[in-house]
Amino acid sequence: MDKEINVKVRVWRQQGPKAKGHFETYKLEKISGGTSFLEMLDILNEQLIRDKKEPVVFDNDCREGICGMCSLYINGHPHGPDDLITTCQLHMRHFKDGQTITVEPWRSAAFPVVRDLMVDRQAFDKIIQAGGYVNVNTGGVPDANATPISKLDADEAMDAASCIGCGACVAACKNGSAMLFVSAKVSQLALLPQGKVEAKARARAMVKRMDELGFGNCTNTRACELECPKGVSISNIARMNRSYLGAKLSE
Ligand code: SF4
Ligand code: FES
Repeated sequence: MDKEINVKVRVWRQQGPKAKGHFETYKLEKISGGTSFLEMLDILNEQLIRDKKEPVVFDNDCREGICGMCSLYINGHPHGPDDLITTCQLHMRHFKDGQTITVEPWRSAAFPVVRDLMVDRQAFDKIIQAGGYVNVNTGGVPDANATPISKLDADEAMDAASCIGCGACVAACKNGSAMLFVSAKVSQLALLPQGKVEAKARARAMVKRMDELGFGNCTNTRACELECPKGVSISNIARMNRSYLGAKLSE
Protein backbone atom coordinates (compact mmCIF):
# COMPACT_ATOMS: atom_id res chain seq x y z
CA MET A 1 0.00 0.00 0.00
CA ASP A 2 1.24 3.54 -0.82
CA LYS A 3 2.47 5.43 2.21
CA GLU A 4 1.06 8.85 3.10
CA ILE A 5 3.13 12.01 2.74
CA ASN A 6 2.92 15.62 3.88
CA VAL A 7 3.77 18.22 1.23
CA LYS A 8 3.84 21.97 0.71
CA VAL A 9 2.27 23.10 -2.56
CA ARG A 10 3.52 26.42 -3.91
CA VAL A 11 0.84 27.50 -6.38
CA TRP A 12 0.73 30.40 -8.86
CA ARG A 13 -2.31 32.56 -8.08
CA GLN A 14 -3.46 35.18 -10.59
CA GLN A 15 -6.88 36.82 -10.53
CA GLY A 16 -7.09 37.39 -14.30
CA PRO A 17 -5.16 37.89 -17.55
CA LYS A 18 -4.04 41.41 -16.67
CA ALA A 19 -3.57 40.94 -12.91
CA LYS A 20 -0.13 40.57 -11.34
CA GLY A 21 0.38 36.99 -10.18
CA HIS A 22 2.17 35.63 -7.13
CA PHE A 23 2.92 32.31 -5.42
CA GLU A 24 1.00 31.09 -2.38
CA THR A 25 2.10 28.10 -0.33
CA TYR A 26 -0.34 25.61 1.20
CA LYS A 27 0.28 22.63 3.47
CA LEU A 28 -1.33 19.29 2.69
CA GLU A 29 -1.17 16.41 5.15
CA LYS A 30 -1.59 12.65 4.84
CA ILE A 31 -1.76 12.50 1.05
CA SER A 32 -1.63 8.89 -0.15
CA GLY A 33 0.99 8.05 -2.78
CA GLY A 34 -1.83 6.65 -4.93
CA THR A 35 -3.51 10.06 -5.13
CA SER A 36 -3.21 11.57 -8.62
CA PHE A 37 -1.77 15.07 -8.93
CA LEU A 38 -5.16 16.50 -9.93
CA GLU A 39 -6.85 14.70 -7.01
CA MET A 40 -4.27 16.34 -4.76
CA LEU A 41 -5.35 19.73 -6.19
CA ASP A 42 -9.00 18.71 -5.57
CA ILE A 43 -8.10 18.02 -1.92
CA LEU A 44 -6.33 21.40 -1.74
CA ASN A 45 -9.44 23.12 -3.15
CA GLU A 46 -11.73 21.38 -0.63
CA GLN A 47 -9.39 22.61 2.11
CA LEU A 48 -9.46 26.17 0.69
CA ILE A 49 -13.27 26.16 0.41
CA ARG A 50 -13.55 24.92 4.02
CA ASP A 51 -11.27 27.82 5.03
CA LYS A 52 -13.55 30.22 3.03
CA LYS A 53 -10.75 30.97 0.53
CA GLU A 54 -10.82 31.02 -3.29
CA PRO A 55 -10.12 27.57 -4.79
CA VAL A 56 -7.30 27.24 -7.32
CA VAL A 57 -8.48 27.33 -10.95
CA PHE A 58 -6.94 24.61 -13.14
CA ASP A 59 -7.93 22.94 -16.39
CA ASN A 60 -8.78 19.26 -16.78
CA ASP A 61 -11.26 17.03 -18.53
CA CYS A 62 -10.55 13.36 -19.25
CA ARG A 63 -8.02 12.65 -16.46
CA GLU A 64 -6.80 9.77 -18.66
CA GLY A 65 -4.03 11.38 -20.73
CA ILE A 66 -6.28 11.95 -23.74
CA CYS A 67 -7.62 15.51 -23.86
CA GLY A 68 -4.44 17.53 -23.19
CA MET A 69 -6.20 19.96 -20.85
CA CYS A 70 -4.23 19.35 -17.64
CA SER A 71 -1.33 21.54 -18.64
CA LEU A 72 0.73 22.36 -15.54
CA TYR A 73 4.38 23.21 -15.00
CA ILE A 74 5.45 21.16 -11.96
CA ASN A 75 8.85 21.66 -10.33
CA GLY A 76 10.23 23.11 -13.56
CA HIS A 77 8.84 20.46 -15.92
CA PRO A 78 5.73 20.53 -18.11
CA HIS A 79 3.50 17.69 -16.80
CA GLY A 80 5.90 17.09 -13.91
CA PRO A 81 9.04 15.06 -13.29
CA ASP A 82 8.03 11.74 -14.89
CA ASP A 83 8.48 10.94 -18.60
CA LEU A 84 5.77 10.29 -21.19
CA ILE A 85 2.77 11.06 -18.97
CA THR A 86 0.38 13.98 -18.57
CA THR A 87 -0.25 15.80 -15.29
CA CYS A 88 -3.43 13.79 -14.70
CA GLN A 89 -1.42 10.54 -14.93
CA LEU A 90 1.16 11.71 -12.37
CA HIS A 91 0.81 10.30 -8.85
CA MET A 92 1.92 11.65 -5.50
CA ARG A 93 4.23 8.64 -4.94
CA HIS A 94 6.71 10.50 -7.19
CA PHE A 95 7.19 13.13 -4.48
CA LYS A 96 8.98 12.87 -1.14
CA ASP A 97 7.58 13.41 2.33
CA GLY A 98 8.13 17.07 3.28
CA GLN A 99 8.82 18.16 -0.31
CA THR A 100 7.74 21.56 -1.65
CA ILE A 101 6.02 21.23 -5.03
CA THR A 102 5.90 24.33 -7.25
CA VAL A 103 2.95 24.46 -9.66
CA GLU A 104 2.77 27.07 -12.43
CA PRO A 105 0.72 27.61 -15.58
CA TRP A 106 2.34 27.34 -19.03
CA ARG A 107 4.56 30.38 -19.55
CA SER A 108 4.17 31.52 -23.15
CA ALA A 109 3.12 34.80 -24.77
CA ALA A 110 0.82 32.80 -27.06
CA PHE A 111 -0.95 31.15 -24.07
CA PRO A 112 -2.14 34.01 -21.79
CA VAL A 113 -3.14 33.10 -18.25
CA VAL A 114 -6.93 33.10 -17.79
CA ARG A 115 -6.75 32.62 -14.05
CA ASP A 116 -4.36 30.86 -11.62
CA LEU A 117 -3.17 27.73 -13.46
CA MET A 118 -5.52 27.95 -16.45
CA VAL A 119 -4.22 29.33 -19.75
CA ASP A 120 -5.95 30.17 -23.02
CA ARG A 121 -4.73 27.73 -25.69
CA GLN A 122 -7.04 28.94 -28.47
CA ALA A 123 -3.94 29.77 -30.52
CA PHE A 124 -3.63 26.03 -31.22
CA ASP A 125 -7.24 25.92 -32.48
CA LYS A 126 -6.50 28.83 -34.81
CA ILE A 127 -3.51 26.99 -36.29
CA ILE A 128 -5.71 23.92 -36.91
CA GLN A 129 -8.36 26.14 -38.53
CA ALA A 130 -5.68 27.38 -40.95
CA GLY A 131 -5.19 23.95 -42.53
CA GLY A 132 -5.31 20.99 -40.15
CA TYR A 133 -7.92 19.10 -42.17
CA VAL A 134 -8.43 17.27 -45.47
CA ASN A 135 -10.39 19.36 -47.95
CA VAL A 136 -10.61 17.00 -50.93
CA ASN A 137 -13.16 14.30 -51.70
CA THR A 138 -11.64 11.13 -50.29
CA GLY A 139 -14.57 8.89 -51.26
CA GLY A 140 -16.45 6.56 -48.96
CA VAL A 141 -15.35 3.84 -46.55
CA PRO A 142 -14.72 1.23 -49.31
CA ASP A 143 -12.32 3.70 -51.02
CA ALA A 144 -10.30 4.09 -47.82
CA ASN A 145 -10.13 0.32 -47.39
CA ALA A 146 -9.00 -0.11 -51.01
CA THR A 147 -6.14 2.40 -50.68
CA PRO A 148 -2.90 0.60 -49.84
CA ILE A 149 -0.77 2.31 -47.15
CA SER A 150 2.61 0.96 -46.09
CA LYS A 151 2.93 -0.22 -42.49
CA LEU A 152 5.77 2.29 -41.93
CA ASP A 153 3.67 5.24 -43.13
CA ALA A 154 0.64 4.08 -41.13
CA ASP A 155 2.76 3.73 -37.97
CA GLU A 156 4.40 7.15 -38.43
CA ALA A 157 1.03 8.79 -39.10
CA MET A 158 -0.38 7.19 -35.92
CA ASP A 159 2.63 8.35 -33.90
CA ALA A 160 2.12 11.93 -35.13
CA ALA A 161 -1.63 11.64 -34.45
CA SER A 162 -0.90 10.84 -30.81
CA CYS A 163 -0.34 14.57 -30.20
CA ILE A 164 -3.03 15.70 -27.75
CA GLY A 165 -2.47 19.44 -28.23
CA CYS A 166 -1.45 19.98 -24.62
CA GLY A 167 1.12 22.71 -25.37
CA ALA A 168 3.94 21.24 -23.26
CA CYS A 169 6.26 21.58 -26.26
CA VAL A 170 5.63 25.34 -26.37
CA ALA A 171 6.02 25.69 -22.59
CA ALA A 172 9.30 23.72 -22.63
CA CYS A 173 10.82 25.71 -25.50
CA LYS A 174 12.95 28.73 -24.60
CA ASN A 175 11.68 30.35 -27.83
CA GLY A 176 8.03 29.46 -27.21
CA SER A 177 7.99 27.61 -30.53
CA ALA A 178 4.98 25.53 -31.57
CA MET A 179 6.88 23.61 -34.26
CA LEU A 180 6.47 20.17 -32.64
CA PHE A 181 2.70 20.57 -32.35
CA VAL A 182 2.27 21.99 -35.86
CA SER A 183 4.58 19.41 -37.43
CA ALA A 184 2.66 16.57 -35.74
CA LYS A 185 -0.62 17.91 -37.13
CA VAL A 186 0.91 18.41 -40.60
CA SER A 187 2.57 14.96 -40.59
CA GLN A 188 -0.43 12.91 -39.46
CA LEU A 189 -2.18 14.00 -42.67
CA ALA A 190 0.78 14.34 -45.06
CA LEU A 191 1.85 10.72 -44.48
CA LEU A 192 -1.46 9.34 -45.76
CA PRO A 193 -2.61 9.39 -49.41
CA GLN A 194 -5.79 11.33 -48.53
CA GLY A 195 -3.78 14.13 -46.91
CA LYS A 196 -0.82 14.18 -49.31
CA VAL A 197 -2.68 16.15 -52.00
CA GLU A 198 -2.73 19.34 -49.91
CA ALA A 199 0.46 18.69 -47.91
CA LYS A 200 2.47 21.68 -49.17
CA ALA A 201 -0.38 24.20 -48.99
CA ARG A 202 -1.30 22.90 -45.52
CA ALA A 203 2.26 23.30 -44.21
CA ARG A 204 2.49 26.81 -45.65
CA ALA A 205 -0.87 27.93 -44.20
CA MET A 206 -0.32 26.44 -40.73
CA VAL A 207 3.23 27.78 -40.38
CA LYS A 208 2.06 31.24 -41.51
CA ARG A 209 -0.71 31.22 -38.87
CA MET A 210 1.71 29.97 -36.21
CA ASP A 211 4.05 32.91 -36.97
CA GLU A 212 1.16 35.41 -36.89
CA LEU A 213 0.08 34.16 -33.46
CA GLY A 214 3.41 35.04 -31.85
CA PHE A 215 5.03 31.62 -31.39
CA GLY A 216 8.84 31.69 -31.54
CA ASN A 217 11.24 30.01 -33.94
CA CYS A 218 12.69 26.52 -33.56
CA THR A 219 16.42 26.45 -32.78
CA ASN A 220 16.66 22.65 -32.39
CA THR A 221 17.16 22.50 -28.61
CA ARG A 222 14.94 19.37 -28.57
CA ALA A 223 13.37 20.44 -25.24
CA CYS A 224 9.95 19.93 -26.87
CA GLU A 225 10.64 16.29 -27.73
CA LEU A 226 12.05 15.64 -24.25
CA GLU A 227 8.98 17.00 -22.46
CA CYS A 228 6.24 15.82 -24.84
CA PRO A 229 3.98 13.42 -22.88
CA LYS A 230 3.25 11.46 -26.07
CA GLY A 231 6.83 11.09 -27.32
CA VAL A 232 6.19 13.00 -30.56
CA SER A 233 9.48 13.02 -32.49
CA ILE A 234 11.20 16.10 -33.89
CA SER A 235 11.60 14.15 -37.16
CA ASN A 236 8.11 15.54 -37.81
CA ILE A 237 9.61 19.05 -37.82
CA ALA A 238 12.08 18.02 -40.54
CA ARG A 239 9.21 16.54 -42.57
CA MET A 240 7.16 19.73 -42.19
CA ASN A 241 10.13 21.91 -43.15
CA ARG A 242 10.52 19.90 -46.37
CA SER A 243 6.83 20.43 -47.24
CA TYR A 244 7.06 24.11 -46.33
CA LEU A 245 10.17 24.63 -48.47
CA GLY A 246 8.51 22.77 -51.35
CA ALA A 247 5.51 25.09 -51.08
CA LYS A 248 7.73 28.18 -51.03
CA LEU A 249 9.75 27.06 -54.04
CA SER A 250 6.62 26.38 -56.09
CA GLU A 251 5.12 29.82 -55.33
S1 SF4 B 1 3.58 17.64 -29.64
FE1 SF4 B 1 3.53 16.68 -27.58
S2 SF4 B 1 3.87 18.37 -26.17
FE2 SF4 B 1 3.30 19.30 -28.11
S3 SF4 B 1 1.08 19.61 -28.01
FE3 SF4 B 1 1.43 17.59 -28.97
S4 SF4 B 1 1.37 16.13 -27.27
FE4 SF4 B 1 1.62 18.15 -26.32
S1 FES C 1 -7.10 15.80 -18.06
FE1 FES C 1 -7.11 15.05 -20.12
S2 FES C 1 -5.01 14.65 -20.56
FE2 FES C 1 -5.02 15.20 -18.45
